[in-house]
Amino acid sequence: METTLKKPVARNLNSVYANNTIKTIYERRAVRKYIDKPVEKEVIEQIVDAGRMAPSAINRQPWKFYVLTDKKEIKTYSKAIGVVALKGIMKTGVKSIVKTIKGFLHFSHGIEFFKAPDPVFHNAPVVIFITSAGKSEWAQLDIGMCAQNMMLAAKSIGISSCPIGLAKFIENTEEYSKLNIPAAEHIHLAIILGYGDENPEVHERKKNNIVYL
Ligand SMILES: Cc1cc2nc3c(=O)[nH]c(=O)nc-3n(C[C@H](O)[C@H](O)[C@H](O)COP(=O)(O)O)c2cc1C
Repeated sequence: METTLKKPVARNLNSVYANNTIKTIYERRAVRKYIDKPVEKEVIEQIVDAGRMAPSAINRQPWKFYVLTDKKEIKTYSKAIGVVALKGIMKTGVKSIVKTIKGFLHFSHGIEFFKAPDPVFHNAPVVIFITSAGKSEWAQLDIGMCAQNMMLAAKSIGISSCPIGLAKFIENTEEYSKLNIPAAEHIHLAIILGYGDENPEVHERKKNNIVYL
């Protein structure tokens, strides 16, 4: 069936073409501050289900979701990841230390990283580890798409989120075995969810990256 493009693509949020989907895309932010309120199970399941609707190479749907909602456990894993990350920094040379710290600052929004009580999961009430098994060359991309679906779905129903790349270092901690993730699987990313307690500024988007051929 042929579809017709009714309206040109929105160029910004003030555009008359900005519909609810586009608005959600523009308004999603990486949120790193949450109120102390659990997220309802049905809400979590709705968000995971939106993730399942993502496209995947050869329709493999390689993702698996491990949902953590126990505050104490989240803190324990966060601490363990922090220690491993720090050990990693100590082991490396000066150049690498600077690079790693820069990386952390980039990931976690500035110097606050070092002061925060939970610099990895930002005190969020829900952490979802997303894994895949085996070695599909596309799994990483599939999971990126899945994660974005989840974060947009979350935003559209009033739940804030942040992708947490640091989460994959949990595989290098002693606590990892407690998650009971089968050896064939690897964590690609975690998504944290919760009722947000901040409205971060929009980062300027680079605009010099489109070439018409
Ligand atoms: C693959 C990936 C990994 C990320 N890892 C972290 C992380 O470990 N900790 C964190 O606080 N933010 C993390 N972020 C969030 C980015 O820092 C954030 O998306 C970026 O600064 C742009 O901000 P915005 O999402 O509000 O537009 C990650 C983002 C992506 C896409």
